[in-house]
Amino acid sequence: MSDKKSSNEALRTIFVALSLCLVCSIAVSVTVVNLKPRQDRNKDLDLKKNILSAAGLHTTYEEIESNFSKIKIAVVDLERGQIDESIDPDTYNENKAKTDPDAQIVIPADIDVGGLVKRLKKVKVYLVQESGTLKQVILPIVSKGLWSTMYGFISLSDDLNTVKGFAYYSQGETPGLGGEVDNPAWKEQWIGKKIFSGADKIAFKVAKGAGKGVHQVDGLSGATITANGVTNSIRYWMSDHGFGKFLNNLKGVN
Ligand SMILES: Cc1cc2nc3c(=O)[nH]c(=O)nc-3n(C[C@H](O)[C@H](O)[C@H](O)COP(=O)(O)O)c2cc1C
Repeated sequence: MSDKKSSNEALRTIFVALSLCLVCSIAVSVTVVNLKPRQDRNKDLDLKKNILSAAGLHTTYEEIESNFSKIKIAVVDLERGQIDESIDPDTYNENKAKTDPDAQIVIPADIDVGGLVKRLKKVKVYLVQESGTLKQVILPIVSKGLWSTMYGFISLSDDLNTVKGFAYYSQGETPGLGGEVDNPAWKEQWIGKKIFSGADKIAFKVAKGAGKGVHQVDGLSGATITANGVTNSIRYWMSDHGFGKFLNNLKGVN
């Protein structure tokens, strides 16, 4: 009799535990599903905040949308160096394009200084205009650091050479070392620096030591590999295999 009672109690305990697990997992699932739109919206706002920040157009959280609405988004065909007017930038999904082999090209190893292996053929860029005249162009830049792929933006002023601002929105370098790419004081140094010297020679670099001229930003202590990754991202994305042709075409119309 007492054996039967204790086995009933064990069954009841298992039943309560399983019920609790079920209720909790349903609660977690419902929360995840409900929070997804809010998470996506925050991700989108964060990207916009970083684009504005790269352009030197710092903004409060409340003003992100209204300030961003002044920026024209375009999709550039990097091979032609032209905006592809047939693509609606609002519906062009770069993350989806990254899963389509036809939307990408392999970067020849000898010019792949950013260690990317391949890149999208068509990339979103952001144009700051005033009365129809281009004032700044904000370009995405990507390259490998020491531990991570670093994603950011650089903004060039209307001479398509002078840096207006620079920001990473995703990188996984060591905080206090490579992670200093996110340090506002370091990013501040970029403003006013020039990417090209002469006609089209890419002269910009991140490097330690003396001779910090108009084409150089100071290196990062204990993080030379990350710093080299930043230099390489500029070297690749400003080259003709990156945005070089597009910038030259913009120079023609500006
Ligand atoms: C725990 C740890 C984390 C590190 N993180 C980075 C990093 O994020 N970026 C980087 O370039 N070097 C990092 N390093 C240092 C590199 O291994 C390498 O020594 C350094 O890039 C050399 O830079 P330096 O010539 O400025 O000292 C790290 C080293 C250790 C031990």
